[in-house]
Amino acid sequence: MSDSYRPAFHFTPLSMWLNDPNGLVYYAGEYHLFYQYHPHSTVWGPMHWGHAVSKDLIYWEHLPIALYPDENGLIFSGSAVIDWNNTAGFGKEAMVAIFTYNNHTYDDKKRVEDQNIAYSTDHGLTWTKYAGNPVVPHPGNLTDFRDPKVFWHKDHWVMALAAGDWVLFYISPDLKHWESSGSFGGGYGSTSGVWETPDLFQLPLNGSDSRWVLTVGVGSGAYAGGSGTQYFVGDFDGKTFTSENPKETVLWMDHGPDFYAPQSWNDEPNGRRISIAWMSNWSYARETPTETWRGMLTMPRELSLTQTSNGLRLLQKPIVELAYLRRDHIHWQDEVITPKHNLLAGIQSRSLEIDAEIAVLNATKRFGIRIFVGEGEETIIYYQPEESLLYLDRSRSGQVDFHEDFSRLQSVPLSPVGGSIRLRILVDRCSVEVFANDGSVTLTDCVFPSAQSHGLKFFVEEGYLHLNSLDIYFLEHADFNITSIK
Ligand code: FRU
Repeated sequence: MSDSYRPAFHFTPLSMWLNDPNGLVYYAGEYHLFYQYHPHSTVWGPMHWGHAVSKDLIYWEHLPIALYPDENGLIFSGSAVIDWNNTAGFGKEAMVAIFTYNNHTYDDKKRVEDQNIAYSTDHGLTWTKYAGNPVVPHPGNLTDFRDPKVFWHKDHWVMALAAGDWVLFYISPDLKHWESSGSFGGGYGSTSGVWETPDLFQLPLNGSDSRWVLTVGVGSGAYAGGSGTQYFVGDFDGKTFTSENPKETVLWMDHGPDFYAPQSWNDEPNGRRISIAWMSNWSYARETPTETWRGMLTMPRELSLTQTSNGLRLLQKPIVELAYLRRDHIHWQDEVITPKHNLLAGIQSRSLEIDAEIAVLNATKRFGIRIFVGEGEETIIYYQPEESLLYLDRSRSGQVDFHEDFSRLQSVPLSPVGGSIRLRILVDRCSVEVFANDGSVTLTDCVFPSAQSHGLKFFVEEGYLHLNSLDIYFLEHADFNITSIK
């Protein structure tokens, strides 16, 4: 069967439904990736944890399903740790998954969510659910109480979980006994939708300084419509998080519609903070037009903080390992582009990396890049100098009719730095990830063009454009090893 949407280098399930990344942990030379998975349908249903491993975050090996739903409920999102000190007593270097059981009884509309653990002593291949579950029982008065992110901090375990428009914190000596240690939210940031899938981590600043970043999924009403991800910058004292910005400050991690439930790896061996997100939107996730599989993940991104005149902001870059996929490369330097001139005429590709630095002068008019260009189809990333706005238009990108929100034009403020803007764009058959100005603004989008739409065009609408530099890298297909699937 033709599967022309299947990405060349983004993670997808071999078949059926995927949503959030879960249980991200590095252990013994492997990055583990678990994910919300429904093995019996291409729409969301009883959740399992799918499993894959990679040595470099680029080439993934699919492994058997790790966690199955049972009489206690569905296995919702969560995280995983290596219990280096055997605090739980599950064995030397046990991998421990911390997840939410969701027990939704449709009859009385009651939902019960609680936090639970399971452990593996064979590198995440087989799992035993802890007999003493739940480790954090349902508090009784909350409908939404899920998605525990656990990590080790100094001398204890920390759990952050989402509850309505709050993130609740718990601490534990042994992963089995947890006590409430604080909360954050109740009016901070965007509260347009239910908060989900929190993540909390420390990022270095210059010198010995650092800050803590709390990322939170907002289930609806996010920046680009539907679900999206916000973040807070502040402090964590080992018990709870405080924001250094006023309540009203809303910071979006990504300004496109398809970036949700990001989670970062525990124990990353090089000390990097690497996060990966589900590349979809709850508005239309169940309707995207792929056939045998549905749902994919972003390119893993390395996170850092930068000081701006408005305060500290997150920067995101594709991990350096992306370079492993680069094959042929074309480089241009100091080109002048006019409306009649398409520098990229003759280049055809549906999986590539584009890195452009463009001078923005007083007279510069609308310019940009058309990708997935074919018969009546194009996806346009363009910049409007008069407005200092970066746009992404996917209204003619291919299949768009499956949901009314999908065609909505996206825009985000972007100012030139040193007189130019820089656009790094990952194009992969059914997606585009834009990292503008060294990752200070990102736009993540799914698109569904036909397989014949592989043209490219670099354009300026009027006058001329000075291109400081342009690099195009053709990216190899990251062959996922499927032999170990049962
Ligand atoms: C986020 C989410 C989580 C939940 C999971 C269920 O996308 O709604 O809150 O645990 O998906 O699949």
